[in-house]
Amino acid sequence: MTRIDSTPAPASATEAITVHAASAVEGSWWRDAVIYQVYPRSFADSNGDGVGDLPGVTAHLDHLVELGVDALWLSPFYRSPQKDAGYDVADYRDVDPLFGTLEDFDVLLEAAHARGVRVVVDLVPNHTSDQHVWFQAALAAEEGSPERGRYLFRDGRGAGGEEPPNNWQSIFGGPAWTRTTRADGTPGQWYLHLFDSSQPDLDWSNPEVRSEFEDVLRFWLDRGVDGFRVDVAHGMVKADGLPDWDGHVAMVDGTETPDADGTEAVNGSGNSGPMFDQDGVHEIYRAWRRILDEYEGDRAMVAEAWVEPLSRLARYVRPDEMHQAFNFSFLVAGWDAARLRGVVESSFRANDAVGAPTTWVLSNHDVVRHASRLGLAEPENRPNGLFATDPQPDAELGLRRARAASLLMLGLPGSSYVYQGEELGLPEHTTLEDVVRQDPAFFRTGGAEAGRDGCRIPMPWAVDAPAYGFSPDGAAWLPQPASYAAHAADVERATPGSTFDLYRTALRVRKAEALGTGDLAWLGVFADDPHVVALRNRDVVVLANLGDAPVALPPGAEVLVASGELTDDAGATAVPSDTAVWYRA
Ligand code: NOJ
Repeated sequence: MTRIDSTPAPASATEAITVHAASAVEGSWWRDAVIYQVYPRSFADSNGDGVGDLPGVTAHLDHLVELGVDALWLSPFYRSPQKDAGYDVADYRDVDPLFGTLEDFDVLLEAAHARGVRVVVDLVPNHTSDQHVWFQAALAAEEGSPERGRYLFRDGRGAGGEEPPNNWQSIFGGPAWTRTTRADGTPGQWYLHLFDSSQPDLDWSNPEVRSEFEDVLRFWLDRGVDGFRVDVAHGMVKADGLPDWDGHVAMVDGTETPDADGTEAVNGSGNSGPMFDQDGVHEIYRAWRRILDEYEGDRAMVAEAWVEPLSRLARYVRPDEMHQAFNFSFLVAGWDAARLRGVVESSFRANDAVGAPTTWVLSNHDVVRHASRLGLAEPENRPNGLFATDPQPDAELGLRRARAASLLMLGLPGSSYVYQGEELGLPEHTTLEDVVRQDPAFFRTGGAEAGRDGCRIPMPWAVDAPAYGFSPDGAAWLPQPASYAAHAADVERATPGSTFDLYRTALRVRKAEALGTGDLAWLGVFADDPHVVALRNRDVVVLANLGDAPVALPPGAEVLVASGELTDDAGATAVPSDTAVWYRA
């Protein structure tokens, strides 16, 4: 028997279980903003070199306006040797020629603001590029010199210093230490790099480092940016003495760590250990908050901090620190009703306690796109990319679930992040040839992990153009799969029911119904349902059916938006498997 006969959804708000009250704070755009992540190198290439650039972003701003987002976040476009796609910054105050010029940035900023779209830029303070003038000076300077004191240089262990100073591993694989060579050719000190060896970690106990980044903040605030996405925000302060640690460090791993008492959502996304989430990091953000508060215009910071449990993450968004933190616990919750409810509840409990908005995210440039991830046999697993030889995602199922997951996300109160291309339903590229891979994680793991190239494929703008309109003559730094033709933006914009149409409609309704500042209550009848997530936000019901049996809507329900075709079963409108709907009852 289907759930149509047994458990019709309730129409009455009295059967609801309140989780979160509507936001009383007015006028802070970041509390309910939908923020679109632009990954510049893969967004749009204006000059034909096969790499996206800032003028390319400017040229496509109307796509974002039509979509209806409030802000865009630009991944790094600063001067960089591009060893980690720009997360290795050589000059924090200039644009890399690959992406354009500072003038191009100013044009983009002005054009976005003219359209009512705010601009958030990426800040990478945990490490610099090894080509940064500071690191080059450090290599040239004496051991123990002030130049070396900006980074974490240490003597090695063992009689000749031939062992690394501790046992930390790089998140990209291999040791987190690289040994230097002295001018006379003899082996010297080691330096710490939590990521690639081309990304030396800064020493944030050094006041010079702090004042330099405060100045960088001001440089971009003075130019008019609306905020910062802070890279590795949980990593800048390390435990005193840099003690050994035998725990597992991985940005993308498959582990699951159930919480002891069931009150915290813990999905294994957290990095812990002496290199992460140290209490001292918060003083940095308090200082930065004071700087942002000096500026007009409600500037905001969002922490990229893979920290769990969520109560620990909420410490980054206390009233005098950051404004938001990415909610990776939601991203890794997979396609499981109980787990999703758990994360939603824990998120509100933690963030409401400090007065911060909760954020939501399903995809970014570091994880397998959710249109593919949710089509894997075990959607809660998070492989670091996929090889052609890996079990392949079910593309149709993945997209169906992704659309439902996105509609669920956009129906939640708080601020949501949308990664470029997810509004087109783009899948991961899962069959890239190893020769084209560029992610340092692929190389540092000796090819054991595919890495993140598959989620960074250039955008398809036009079905009939070379490289699907990504660049003028068809150049593209990574090849696009043939499946992108069906997702090209020009096709999707013109196709009712396309994923773009779904996002556009959802964002319009979300704004009209003020769902971003709304409240959240579970519908009692589904509160423990293993297959259904159903909540009321203001007077809109958001219902996602993760099970096999269709779920009937109450008689007279006014459907506002649905992620897929609804069915008509014996006169009742029903939500089929892996589909979400917003309705008013
Ligand atoms: C997180 C960024 O999102 C990722 O792309 C980068 O590789 C690391 N931080 C290091 O900066």
